Amino acid sequence: MYAAAFALTLGLGFTTNGMAVDVDKGPAELILKSTIDAAATPKPATFAHAKHQERLACKECHHSKDAAGKQVAYVEGQKIEKCESCHNKAAGITNAKVVTFKDAAHTNCKGCHTEKKAGPTTKCVECHKK
Ligand code: HEC
Ligand code: HEC
Ligand code: HEC
Ligand code: HEC
Repeated sequence: MYAAAFALTLGLGFTTNGMAVDVDKGPAELILKSTIDAAATPKPATFAHAKHQERLACKECHHSKDAAGKQVAYVEGQKIEKCESCHNKAAGITNAKVVTFKDAAHTNCKGCHTEKKAGPTTKCVECHKK
Protein backbone atom coordinates (compact mmCIF):
# COMPACT_ATOMS: atom_id res chain seq x y z
CA MET A 1 0.00 0.00 0.00
CA TYR A 2 2.66 2.46 1.11
CA ALA A 3 4.79 1.69 -1.94
CA ALA A 4 1.84 2.24 -4.28
CA ALA A 5 0.97 5.60 -2.73
CA PHE A 6 4.62 6.63 -2.88
CA ALA A 7 4.84 5.76 -6.58
CA LEU A 8 1.67 7.73 -7.26
CA THR A 9 3.10 10.80 -5.56
CA LEU A 10 6.20 10.53 -7.71
CA GLY A 11 3.96 10.43 -10.73
CA LEU A 12 4.61 8.87 -14.09
CA GLY A 13 7.65 6.81 -14.87
CA PHE A 14 7.84 4.72 -11.71
CA THR A 15 6.36 1.35 -10.87
CA THR A 16 5.17 0.36 -7.40
CA ASN A 17 8.53 -1.22 -6.58
CA GLY A 18 10.32 2.01 -7.38
CA MET A 19 11.91 0.90 -10.64
CA ALA A 20 12.00 3.53 -13.34
CA VAL A 21 10.14 2.61 -16.54
CA ASP A 22 12.01 3.77 -19.58
CA VAL A 23 9.77 3.92 -22.59
CA ASP A 24 11.80 4.22 -25.77
CA LYS A 25 10.13 7.04 -27.69
CA GLY A 26 12.14 6.47 -30.85
CA PRO A 27 13.59 9.17 -33.13
CA ALA A 28 12.21 12.74 -33.07
CA GLU A 29 12.26 13.00 -36.85
CA LEU A 30 11.79 10.14 -39.27
CA ILE A 31 12.05 9.54 -42.97
CA LEU A 32 9.68 6.70 -43.77
CA LYS A 33 10.64 4.52 -46.68
CA SER A 34 9.61 1.08 -47.95
CA THR A 35 12.47 -1.39 -47.96
CA ILE A 36 10.67 -4.75 -48.27
CA ASP A 37 8.11 -3.95 -50.99
CA ALA A 38 10.41 -1.28 -52.37
CA ALA A 39 8.92 0.80 -55.18
CA ALA A 40 10.69 1.31 -58.52
CA THR A 41 10.49 5.03 -57.85
CA PRO A 42 10.82 5.43 -54.09
CA LYS A 43 8.70 8.10 -52.44
CA PRO A 44 10.02 8.65 -48.92
CA ALA A 45 7.84 10.58 -46.45
CA THR A 46 9.07 12.92 -43.75
CA PHE A 47 7.40 12.53 -40.38
CA ALA A 48 7.75 14.73 -37.28
CA HIS A 49 7.45 11.88 -34.74
CA ALA A 50 8.16 13.96 -31.61
CA LYS A 51 5.73 16.67 -32.64
CA HIS A 52 2.99 14.05 -33.11
CA GLN A 53 3.87 12.42 -29.77
CA GLU A 54 3.27 15.75 -28.00
CA ARG A 55 -0.43 15.58 -28.73
CA LEU A 56 -1.24 11.97 -29.55
CA ALA A 57 -1.12 8.67 -27.68
CA CYS A 58 1.23 5.94 -28.89
CA LYS A 59 -1.73 3.62 -29.48
CA GLU A 60 -3.05 5.91 -32.25
CA CYS A 61 -0.29 4.56 -34.47
CA HIS A 62 1.43 1.61 -32.78
CA HIS A 63 0.06 -1.89 -32.21
CA SER A 64 1.23 -5.45 -32.31
CA LYS A 65 -0.05 -8.84 -33.38
CA ASP A 66 -0.66 -12.12 -31.60
CA ALA A 67 0.45 -15.63 -32.55
CA ALA A 68 -2.62 -16.02 -34.79
CA GLY A 69 -1.64 -12.88 -36.70
CA LYS A 70 -4.47 -10.75 -35.26
CA GLN A 71 -3.93 -7.10 -34.40
CA VAL A 72 -3.30 -6.44 -30.72
CA ALA A 73 -3.73 -2.97 -29.19
CA TYR A 74 -0.66 -1.08 -28.00
CA VAL A 75 0.35 -1.53 -24.37
CA GLU A 76 2.97 0.68 -22.76
CA GLY A 77 6.44 -0.80 -22.92
CA GLN A 78 5.68 -3.20 -25.77
CA LYS A 79 8.34 -3.88 -28.37
CA ILE A 80 7.73 -1.42 -31.21
CA GLU A 81 8.52 -2.77 -34.64
CA LYS A 82 8.70 -1.03 -37.97
CA CYS A 83 5.31 -0.92 -39.71
CA GLU A 84 6.68 -2.72 -42.74
CA SER A 85 7.81 -5.72 -40.70
CA CYS A 86 4.10 -6.67 -40.60
CA HIS A 87 2.65 -4.57 -43.40
CA ASN A 88 4.32 -6.20 -46.41
CA LYS A 89 2.99 -8.47 -49.13
CA ALA A 90 4.50 -11.62 -47.63
CA ALA A 91 3.40 -11.09 -44.01
CA GLY A 92 -0.13 -12.47 -44.36
CA ILE A 93 -2.20 -9.37 -43.53
CA THR A 94 -5.82 -10.19 -44.46
CA ASN A 95 -7.27 -6.66 -44.58
CA ALA A 96 -6.58 -5.78 -48.23
CA LYS A 97 -6.58 -2.06 -47.41
CA VAL A 98 -3.43 -2.26 -45.28
CA VAL A 99 -1.23 -4.95 -46.82
CA THR A 100 1.69 -2.71 -47.78
CA PHE A 101 3.53 -0.05 -45.80
CA LYS A 102 2.22 2.52 -48.26
CA ASP A 103 -1.41 1.54 -47.71
CA ALA A 104 -1.06 1.09 -43.92
CA ALA A 105 0.63 4.49 -43.66
CA HIS A 106 -1.86 6.26 -45.93
CA THR A 107 -4.76 4.74 -43.95
CA ASN A 108 -3.26 5.69 -40.58
CA CYS A 109 -1.81 9.11 -41.45
CA LYS A 110 -4.47 10.44 -43.78
CA GLY A 111 -7.28 8.79 -41.79
CA CYS A 112 -6.42 10.74 -38.68
CA HIS A 113 -5.78 13.97 -40.55
CA THR A 114 -9.23 13.66 -42.14
CA GLU A 115 -10.88 12.85 -38.81
CA LYS A 116 -9.19 15.70 -36.94
CA LYS A 117 -9.37 18.15 -39.87
CA ALA A 118 -5.65 18.83 -39.37
CA GLY A 119 -2.56 17.69 -41.25
CA PRO A 120 -2.21 16.89 -44.97
CA THR A 121 -4.59 14.50 -46.74
CA THR A 122 -4.45 15.38 -50.43
CA LYS A 123 -1.31 17.46 -50.87
CA CYS A 124 1.22 14.69 -51.51
CA VAL A 125 4.19 17.04 -51.26
CA GLU A 126 3.46 17.93 -47.63
CA CYS A 127 4.57 14.42 -46.67
CA HIS A 128 6.61 13.47 -49.73
CA LYS A 129 8.93 16.43 -49.71
CA LYS A 130 11.14 16.99 -52.72
C1 HEC B 1 -0.01 12.30 -44.49
C2 HEC B 1 1.20 12.03 -45.23
C3 HEC B 1 1.08 11.53 -46.64
C4 HEC B 1 0.38 12.09 -47.67
C5 HEC B 1 -0.48 13.34 -47.65
C6 HEC B 1 0.64 11.25 -48.81
N1 HEC B 1 1.46 10.22 -48.48
FE1 HEC B 1 2.17 8.78 -49.71
N2 HEC B 1 3.08 7.84 -48.16
C7 HEC B 1 3.13 8.34 -46.88
C8 HEC B 1 3.88 7.42 -46.06
C9 HEC B 1 4.17 7.58 -44.58
C10 HEC B 1 4.30 6.35 -46.90
C11 HEC B 1 5.09 5.11 -46.50
C12 HEC B 1 6.56 5.28 -46.88
C13 HEC B 1 6.92 4.62 -48.17
O1 HEC B 1 6.24 3.69 -48.63
O2 HEC B 1 7.95 5.03 -48.75
C14 HEC B 1 3.78 6.66 -48.23
C15 HEC B 1 4.01 5.89 -49.38
C16 HEC B 1 3.65 6.26 -50.64
C17 HEC B 1 4.05 5.54 -51.84
C18 HEC B 1 4.94 4.30 -51.89
C19 HEC B 1 6.36 4.76 -52.10
C20 HEC B 1 7.44 3.73 -51.86
O3 HEC B 1 8.62 4.10 -52.08
O4 HEC B 1 7.13 2.64 -51.44
C21 HEC B 1 3.51 6.21 -52.90
C22 HEC B 1 3.65 5.85 -54.37
C23 HEC B 1 2.78 7.35 -52.36
N3 HEC B 1 2.89 7.35 -51.00
C24 HEC B 1 2.10 8.27 -53.13
C25 HEC B 1 1.38 9.34 -52.61
C26 HEC B 1 0.62 10.28 -53.43
C27 HEC B 1 0.50 10.22 -54.96
C28 HEC B 1 0.04 11.17 -52.56
C29 HEC B 1 -0.91 12.34 -52.88
C30 HEC B 1 -2.13 11.96 -53.58
C31 HEC B 1 0.46 10.80 -51.22
N4 HEC B 1 1.28 9.70 -51.30
C32 HEC B 1 0.11 11.50 -50.08
C33 HEC B 1 2.57 9.49 -46.42
C34 HEC B 1 1.75 10.35 -47.16
C1 HEC C 1 1.13 9.72 -35.19
C2 HEC C 1 1.70 8.37 -35.17
C3 HEC C 1 2.64 7.99 -34.08
C4 HEC C 1 2.54 8.24 -32.73
C5 HEC C 1 1.45 8.99 -31.98
C6 HEC C 1 3.69 7.62 -32.12
N1 HEC C 1 4.46 7.02 -33.07
FE1 HEC C 1 6.19 6.02 -32.77
N2 HEC C 1 6.44 5.79 -34.77
C7 HEC C 1 5.50 6.13 -35.71
C8 HEC C 1 5.99 5.75 -37.01
C9 HEC C 1 5.25 5.93 -38.33
C10 HEC C 1 7.27 5.18 -36.81
C11 HEC C 1 8.20 4.61 -37.87
C12 HEC C 1 7.95 3.15 -38.01
C13 HEC C 1 8.71 2.56 -39.16
O1 HEC C 1 9.87 2.95 -39.40
O2 HEC C 1 8.15 1.69 -39.83
C14 HEC C 1 7.52 5.21 -35.38
C15 HEC C 1 8.67 4.71 -34.78
C16 HEC C 1 8.81 4.54 -33.42
C17 HEC C 1 9.93 3.87 -32.79
C18 HEC C 1 11.13 3.26 -33.51
C19 HEC C 1 10.81 1.87 -33.98
C20 HEC C 1 11.94 1.28 -34.82
O3 HEC C 1 12.31 0.14 -34.59
O4 HEC C 1 12.45 1.96 -35.72
C21 HEC C 1 9.69 3.88 -31.44
C22 HEC C 1 10.57 3.28 -30.36
C23 HEC C 1 8.43 4.58 -31.23
N3 HEC C 1 7.93 4.96 -32.45
C24 HEC C 1 7.84 4.80 -30.01
C25 HEC C 1 6.69 5.57 -29.80
C26 HEC C 1 6.13 5.86 -28.49
C27 HEC C 1 6.66 5.33 -27.16
C28 HEC C 1 5.03 6.66 -28.70
C29 HEC C 1 4.14 7.30 -27.68
C30 HEC C 1 4.82 8.11 -26.68
C31 HEC C 1 4.92 6.87 -30.15
N4 HEC C 1 5.94 6.20 -30.76
C32 HEC C 1 3.94 7.62 -30.76
C33 HEC C 1 4.29 6.74 -35.49
C34 HEC C 1 3.85 7.21 -34.28
C1 HEC D 1 3.59 -6.60 -35.21
C2 HEC D 1 2.89 -6.42 -36.46
C3 HEC D 1 2.41 -5.04 -36.84
C4 HEC D 1 3.11 -3.86 -36.80
C5 HEC D 1 4.54 -3.64 -36.36
C6 HEC D 1 2.22 -2.85 -37.30
N1 HEC D 1 1.02 -3.40 -37.64
FE1 HEC D 1 -0.59 -2.40 -38.37
N2 HEC D 1 -1.69 -4.12 -38.28
C7 HEC D 1 -1.20 -5.37 -37.97
C8 HEC D 1 -2.27 -6.35 -38.09
C9 HEC D 1 -2.13 -7.85 -37.84
C10 HEC D 1 -3.42 -5.64 -38.47
C11 HEC D 1 -4.80 -6.21 -38.76
C12 HEC D 1 -4.87 -6.46 -40.24
C13 HEC D 1 -6.06 -7.30 -40.65
O1 HEC D 1 -7.15 -7.09 -40.12
O2 HEC D 1 -5.87 -8.13 -41.55
C14 HEC D 1 -3.02 -4.24 -38.59
C15 HEC D 1 -3.88 -3.23 -38.97
C16 HEC D 1 -3.49 -1.93 -39.26
C17 HEC D 1 -4.36 -0.90 -39.78
C18 HEC D 1 -5.86 -1.05 -40.04
C19 HEC D 1 -6.63 -1.13 -38.75
C20 HEC D 1 -6.46 0.09 -37.92
O3 HEC D 1 -6.00 -0.04 -36.77
O4 HEC D 1 -6.74 1.19 -38.42
C21 HEC D 1 -3.58 0.21 -39.99
C22 HEC D 1 -4.03 1.54 -40.54
C23 HEC D 1 -2.23 -0.13 -39.57
N3 HEC D 1 -2.20 -1.43 -39.13
C24 HEC D 1 -1.15 0.73 -39.64
C25 HEC D 1 0.10 0.48 -39.05
C26 HEC D 1 1.17 1.44 -38.93
C27 HEC D 1 1.13 2.86 -39.44
C28 HEC D 1 2.21 0.82 -38.30
C29 HEC D 1 3.53 1.40 -37.85
C30 HEC D 1 3.47 2.62 -37.08
C31 HEC D 1 1.79 -0.54 -38.03
N4 HEC D 1 0.51 -0.70 -38.50
C32 HEC D 1 2.57 -1.51 -37.42
C33 HEC D 1 0.08 -5.67 -37.60
C34 HEC D 1 1.09 -4.74 -37.38
C1 HEC E 1 -3.87 10.10 -34.70
C2 HEC E 1 -3.72 11.29 -35.51
C3 HEC E 1 -2.57 11.45 -36.49
C4 HEC E 1 -1.89 10.47 -37.16
C5 HEC E 1 -2.08 8.98 -37.11
C6 HEC E 1 -0.91 11.15 -37.99
N1 HEC E 1 -1.01 12.51 -37.83
FE1 HEC E 1 0.08 13.93 -38.86
N2 HEC E 1 -0.91 15.38 -37.87
C7 HEC E 1 -1.90 15.19 -36.93
C8 HEC E 1 -2.37 16.49 -36.46
C9 HEC E 1 -3.44 16.74 -35.40
C10 HEC E 1 -1.63 17.45 -37.17
C11 HEC E 1 -1.73 18.98 -37.07
C12 HEC E 1 -0.65 19.50 -36.19
C13 HEC E 1 -0.69 21.01 -36.07
O1 HEC E 1 -1.58 21.63 -36.63
O2 HEC E 1 0.20 21.53 -35.41
C14 HEC E 1 -0.71 16.71 -38.06
C15 HEC E 1 0.17 17.33 -38.94
C16 HEC E 1 0.98 16.68 -39.84
C17 HEC E 1 1.83 17.32 -40.82
C18 HEC E 1 1.93 18.83 -41.05
C19 HEC E 1 3.25 19.39 -40.61
C20 HEC E 1 3.56 19.06 -39.20
O3 HEC E 1 4.49 18.25 -38.97
O4 HEC E 1 2.87 19.57 -38.29
C21 HEC E 1 2.49 16.32 -41.50
C22 HEC E 1 3.50 16.47 -42.64
C23 HEC E 1 2.02 15.06 -40.93
N3 HEC E 1 1.11 15.31 -39.94
C24 HEC E 1 2.47 13.81 -41.37
C25 HEC E 1 2.01 12.61 -40.84
C26 HEC E 1 2.46 11.30 -41.30
C27 HEC E 1 3.50 11.05 -42.37
C28 HEC E 1 1.75 10.39 -40.58
C29 HEC E 1 1.80 8.88 -40.64
C30 HEC E 1 3.10 8.25 -40.53
C31 HEC E 1 0.87 11.11 -39.68
N4 HEC E 1 1.06 12.45 -39.87
C32 HEC E 1 -0.01 10.50 -38.81
C33 HEC E 1 -2.41 14.00 -36.50
C34 HEC E 1 -2.02 12.74 -36.92
